[in-house]
Amino acid sequence: MDQIVIPSDAEYRALGEHLAHSNMRRVLVVCGKSCDRLRIGKNLDELAARIGSEFVRFSDFAPNPDYSSVVKGIDVFRTEGCDSILAIGGGSAMDTAKCIKLYATMPVGCDYIHEKIVPNTIPFVAVPTTAGTGSEATRYAVVYYKGEKQSVTDYSCIPSAVLFDPTVLESLPEYQRKVTMMDAFCHAVESFWSVNSTDESRILSDRAVRMILDYAEAYLGNATEGNQKMLEAANIAGKAINITQTTAGHAMCYKLTSLYGIAHGHAAALCVSALWPYMLNHMDQCVDPRGKGHLASAFSGLAAAMQAETPESAASKFSDFLDALRLDRPGVHSVEDFAVLRKSVNPVRLKNNPVKLDESAIDTLYHQILGE
Ligand SMILES: [Fe+2]
Repeated sequence: MDQIVIPSDAEYRALGEHLAHSNMRRVLVVCGKSCDRLRIGKNLDELAARIGSEFVRFSDFAPNPDYSSVVKGIDVFRTEGCDSILAIGGGSAMDTAKCIKLYATMPVGCDYIHEKIVPNTIPFVAVPTTAGTGSEATRYAVVYYKGEKQSVTDYSCIPSAVLFDPTVLESLPEYQRKVTMMDAFCHAVESFWSVNSTDESRILSDRAVRMILDYAEAYLGNATEGNQKMLEAANIAGKAINITQTTAGHAMCYKLTSLYGIAHGHAAALCVSALWPYMLNHMDQCVDPRGKGHLASAFSGLAAAMQAETPESAASKFSDFLDALRLDRPGVHSVEDFAVLRKSVNPVRLKNNPVKLDESAIDTLYHQILGE
């Protein structure tokens, strides 16, 4: 089912109409604590009163939400008699809301994470507050269970409707603004060359890449149209990775984040920037079952989306774009770091990469990424 896009307006009239039309009468609002600072947060009480619904807020979760937060959310959903969910926030709010949605109809007190997911029809609306993860468009949620990162996957956790409200980005700090855009950019690029790409995913990737390039300046300048379009682009890139999953760029980026304290989108962009030219130089290592010709056409298509003359110049354009944002390489690293990094690579995501990367290739790439 296609995700409905609720038009954005100053009084949230279209959102109110959608909630009322969807019979969302007691809504669990899963939102970060900073929601009150956003225009939508300030308008929630008035919106609820206008449509005659009750909003029950739930903010008792932290970044990288853990399972116990989800359980608390389900308890609130049940004890308050909620019938629907409105998520307002970034990745953590989305992950929490997605899990609440999937688990809310499971037997009370069961071990939700191990229970079979049975799709339900709880209305679920999302208002993303960063233009990056595209989480509001994907079937994946991440939750920490007994300290371990768990991926929860089901199509029925995808919100049925989204609202792209450009005002949520107005107070976004500059670094966050840049790195979230780069996360979306990496999703679009990696999806384009993924071994799981389809005609549909390529169209989505192409649109997302073009929109990011077309509206980057306006977005970085905090213009309303730029903010609006970047939210849309991140959502489209999310739809693309919902089909294809991410590839080596994301497989390699996670440890950079924890080791050097750089943001996810920053780390992913550094990886993609090294990976792209490497792959063009190692097409003989193609592992996409559709063959080298297919991969070459993917790189050509990506070059067209990047408005570059050749696949090589598209890769350079990406690196230049990153350099212009001054998202630099982490400065301090030791020889031991490389062994840690090599071991950290997520093998599942690596399998989606169309060019084979053995341990020595990964080592080479990490040296390039860290500028050694
Ligand atoms: Fe990402």
